[in-house]
Amino acid sequence: MSNSSHSPRLLILGGTRFLGPHMVDEAKRRGWRVTLFNRGKSNPDLFDNVEQLRGDRAEGDLAALEGREFDAVIDTSAYYPRAVREVLEVLDGHVDHYAFISTISVYADFSSLGLDEESELATLDDPTTEEVTAETYGGLKVLCEEAAREHFSGRLTIIRPGIVAGPRDHTDRFTYWPVRTARGGKMAVPGSPKDPVQYIDVRDLARWTVDTLAAETTGTFNAVVPDGMVTMDDLIDTCREIVDDPAEPVWVSEDVIAAQDDPASFPMWAPPSGDHRGIFTISSERAIKAGMALRSVEETVEGTLEWFESLPDERRQNLEAGPTPAQEQALLDALS
Ligand SMILES: NC(=O)c1ccc[n+]([C@@H]2O[C@H](COP(=O)([O-])OP(=O)(O)OC[C@H]3O[C@@H](n4cnc5c(N)ncnc54)[C@H](OP(=O)(O)O)[C@@H]3O)[C@@H](O)[C@H]2O)c1
Repeated sequence: MSNSSHSPRLLILGGTRFLGPHMVDEAKRRGWRVTLFNRGKSNPDLFDNVEQLRGDRAEGDLAALEGREFDAVIDTSAYYPRAVREVLEVLDGHVDHYAFISTISVYADFSSLGLDEESELATLDDPTTEEVTAETYGGLKVLCEEAAREHFSGRLTIIRPGIVAGPRDHTDRFTYWPVRTARGGKMAVPGSPKDPVQYIDVRDLARWTVDTLAAETTGTFNAVVPDGMVTMDDLIDTCREIVDDPAEPVWVSEDVIAAQDDPASFPMWAPPSGDHRGIFTISSERAIKAGMALRSVEETVEGTLEWFESLPDERRQNLEAGPTPAQEQALLDALS
């Protein structure tokens, strides 16, 4: 379908919230002609020079895709298998390459260390559910991946990111650490300095996703920084090097956190004795061997902080992740 004399055509299902805008920027930078498909609710005015198709996957309203041809599709907006099936029924035969954004939450058992793409996958008690909750999210993405394999006859790439970090992140999980460090004072830090931390910078995820389309790379890939590349103290030290008057870390053990009446939840950290101890030790060897390039933790911290500081005051005051000031103070008091 591609013609070397024309720019390749890319359809992004989604495209206007967090991952999507970075995929648009990366693809445009590399000469793709980009079309977005979404409801027009999230940031509808973000892009001037990008074709926008309107429809609603929840309602099966895909009329705007009918009769269209694309060289590749990046699907960031499917959370249950019907959404994948319906889109592929409309697009199959009209698209060469489909890249599905899945998640590492597809794995069944995070108490194991070093999970790779062949590890056991989550299952659902009710595989017909379309209710996306913390409990069903991973199992539903497994079913989305299966639907993609069943219903798409072209080139298929499945990308399973871990926590995605960087500019535009609305969850604040990675963002919490540079922002909290910049606020100064004594800062409660969970666990031990060598506890593992894993994430992927959204700009690296966008580059890798577009790379797979450009290089016609197919298969299933975890997408996170390599196991062992970043530990909790690397993250904290990097944040401290970058900000003026950084907070002073006070390491708080898993037991002290658990003993609180209102235990704090710390992003980017899993209690080493808990069911999720392996969640930040995922193997991304397969993607790295296939060419996934990753920037340093310094660049991710800097990019995240620079973006966060550009946001309106009201947004900056309300972090979506991390302990409340009262929870943090209770931990510091418990140690004094
Ligand atoms: N954030 C993470 O740490 C993380 C980690 C692993 C995997 N992921 C995966 O990343 C993807 C989410 O990324 P994102 O939110 O940043 O993507 P995005 O593409 O930037 O934003 C979501 C897009 O989907 C559109 N959309 C939502 N509901 C829709 C519907 N019913 N019909 C049509 N379009 C719809 C939204 O636009 P409208 O609202 O205008 O429709 C928006 O453009 C998901 O697949 C998630 O599983 C995220």
